[in-house]
Amino acid sequence: MKVLITGADGQLGWELQRAVPAGIEFTACNSAELDITSKPQVDELTARLAPEIIINAAAYTAVDRAESEVELAMAVNRDGAAHLAAAAAALGAGIIHVSTDFIFDGCHYRPYLPADVPNPTGVYGASKLAGERLLLIKCPDAAIIRTAWVYSSHGNNFVKTMLRLMDGRKELGVVADQIGSPTWAGGLAQALWQAAVQKLTGVYHWTDAGVASWYDFACAIQEEALALGILRRETFIRPLRTEDYPTQARRPPYSVLDKTSLWGELGVSAPHWRFNLKKMLAELKNV
Ligand SMILES: NC(=O)c1ccc[n+]([C@@H]2O[C@H](COP(=O)([O-])OP(=O)(O)OC[C@H]3O[C@@H](n4cnc5c(N)ncnc54)[C@H](OP(=O)(O)O)[C@@H]3O)[C@@H](O)[C@H]2O)c1
Repeated sequence: MKVLITGADGQLGWELQRAVPAGIEFTACNSAELDITSKPQVDELTARLAPEIIINAAAYTAVDRAESEVELAMAVNRDGAAHLAAAAAALGAGIIHVSTDFIFDGCHYRPYLPADVPNPTGVYGASKLAGERLLLIKCPDAAIIRTAWVYSSHGNNFVKTMLRLMDGRKELGVVADQIGSPTWAGGLAQALWQAAVQKLTGVYHWTDAGVASWYDFACAIQEEALALGILRRETFIRPLRTEDYPTQARRPPYSVLDKTSLWGELGVSAPHWRFNLKKMLAELKNV
């Protein structure tokens, strides 16, 4: 099977390349090699490579900056997704697109099902939702897999930010009233490959199991990092309310996703987030 991966230098794009199953011939393009906002570039490259599946790991992911870069966020997350979907449809190829928990407003406190009504609270979520919608119009047989709170040993993310801050500070405040599911990009990549091999279509959710607040996540990062010797001194972590930590974008207070349908389709479930956190930190230590 020939597969095109976009966003090759991102967390997920990188993990996808590490997790390629046997029998897959893949081309992974970073933003310099394929700018998904350019329809001519997308059309030319896909016609030349003729992939059977496109996995779109490219995205504009700067949640706060998106509030002031609306056009760019829309160009990548809405138009880029549409260009790839149109190219896939023209070739008769499949497309697996990755979306986000931030399409939901987080106002009801039970895990969100794939069919729940979206209502993004910010530009990033709105651009990802617009991408999902256009994608399904251009390529109704697409697979959309929504995920959340992604981290990897490669790239920038909450885990690495916390380690950096904890290394130099005696005290740190972290928001304790936003609840979600931390997700290791490596596990997500494996799930996406399985979805590709099974030629899955439809809308699904994938995150690691369990829930946490950013505060809980930060406490776990510190505990595991101290145990592994990545950190040497303890930092006092203070729980904050969202209102005490103003950001440009409003985030959903509860964005846990219900994964049961994808776990059923793939016949696998994700481990608890803390298990994968340990694995990633052990890897980071060796890097
Ligand atoms: N990170 C999270 O917490 C999170 C949460 C929920 C959902 N997701 C979704 O998961 C997917 C993967 O996210 P990630 O964490 O791997 O993001 P990431 O690390 O920010 O990587 C995104 C990649 O997309 C590339 N990109 C940006 N604009 C592009 C363009 N016009 N053409 C081609 N590539 C472009 C970026 O390249 P440059 O750096 O060169 O611009 C970057 O390498 C995304 O769909 C994201 O929306 C992420």
